[in-house]
Amino acid sequence: MKVDVLLGLQWGDEGKGKVVDVLTPKYDVVARFQGGPNAGHTLEFEGQKYVLRSIPSGIFQGNKVNIVGNGVVLDPALFKAEAEALEASGHPLKERLHISKKAHLILPTHRILDAAYEAAKGDAKVGTTGKGIGPTYTDKVSRNGVRVGDILHNFEQKYAAAKARHEQILKSLNYEYDLTELEKAWLEGIEYLKQFHFVDSEHEINNLLKDGKSVLCEGAQGTMLDIDFGSYPFVTSSNTVCAGACTGLGVAPNRIGEVYGIFKAYCTRVGAGPFPSELFDETGDKIGALGHEFGAVTGRKRRCGWIDLVALKYSVMVNGVTKLIMMKSDVLDTFDTIKACVAYKVNGEEIDYFPYDITEGVEPVYAELPGWKTDMTKMQSEDEFPEEFNAYLTFLEEQLGVQIKIVSVGPDRAQTIERYTEE
Ligand code: GDP
Ligand code: IMO
Ligand code: MG
Repeated sequence: MKVDVLLGLQWGDEGKGKVVDVLTPKYDVVARFQGGPNAGHTLEFEGQKYVLRSIPSGIFQGNKVNIVGNGVVLDPALFKAEAEALEASGHPLKERLHISKKAHLILPTHRILDAAYEAAKGDAKVGTTGKGIGPTYTDKVSRNGVRVGDILHNFEQKYAAAKARHEQILKSLNYEYDLTELEKAWLEGIEYLKQFHFVDSEHEINNLLKDGKSVLCEGAQGTMLDIDFGSYPFVTSSNTVCAGACTGLGVAPNRIGEVYGIFKAYCTRVGAGPFPSELFDETGDKIGALGHEFGAVTGRKRRCGWIDLVALKYSVMVNGVTKLIMMKSDVLDTFDTIKACVAYKVNGEEIDYFPYDITEGVEPVYAELPGWKTDMTKMQSEDEFPEEFNAYLTFLEEQLGVQIKIVSVGPDRAQTIERYTEE
């Protein structure tokens, strides 16, 4: 069997959690392969709303195995809060959630370092989620990390060594902090974690595949936040692209099947960094208000703009996207005109490829399409789509060279429409 991958093509928050939940019944296993509690994946069904951060979004659909892969970074305190809330709402996890021994632990001092590095950057700060993501991946790569598997072997010693190292760095930065509460919650989280299955997830997943089981990999963040291909340095610290599923789970590249690329009908970004099609006018405010564009976890206001097809084409390319999924179409239901950025003007020259640097001097060039001016939120099938909406879909498919197979018309699980276009 192959492994299918679902990942964000923009700057995160495309609606990955919702679609993973919708697709889960087709799979035996759902696995996260990178990122950590910087993610906030929202699901809505039966009048309930859930926000997942470290736990895969396949946890609500039947008795599926959900795996936290080696590429993920895990904060035991935040994990405990998330898992306890799920259990309290009637969704038992213990038997179904497997955690890779090779996943790295976010230590309390990683969170403090995240804040200290951001403070040191001043105006140039990244606007991180403050969850210690960058410092944890830094320690992983510099071979100083503490892993989930270490909880069972010489843990106190390894934790003390890492903490002492961090305290030295914080001292050199003259950064004042209080570790007491954070560390207390974190150590409670470590105890709590011990009741879960710690696994060698690369063996587990490959054995499942050998047994004919199907796996859906759930990306976090988005391609424009990828450490290599995103708008560096305003990015996260992991490979959010499809290749991240190989390194983050131990799955060989020739095992990758479908690559679902997910995007909003417009575009948002949270945190600092370039965003060529950002709107600073009332249209941007209207998109933000209608789309409830506030961070799922941090509550931060998301910046809004028109869809950026230059960036999307690049994302489709680096991920090898085979199927597209368009989210939040309903947010544009009332607009007279929809714009789509089809090229960038850089130093007076028009380019249609994503350049090395988009930090400055990039002006969007727009195509304009008529809006559909129809409430799509109750639609059940593509037969109901208005003509102008179909024209928008066709335009995007021509620009991106990949078919849009799923359209989302509202936050609920039920507001999801499959398209049966010819391959
Ligand atoms: P993720 O991080 O990619 O899982 O996305 P988030 O959960 O951070 O943000 C997506 C937001 O849009 C959530 O509040 C979802 O409930 C909501 N959402 C998802 N799909 C749709 C849709 O088709 N229409 C509307 N209006 N909201 C949606
Ligand atoms: P999901 O999975 C949107 C952004 C932060 C910041 C940058 C680096 O919900 O789509 P980090 O804390 O990772 O070091 O922050 O990345 N960011 C996200 N933006 N959605 C996310 O996750 C994000 N995770 C990180 O705002 O700009
Ligand atoms: Mg999110």
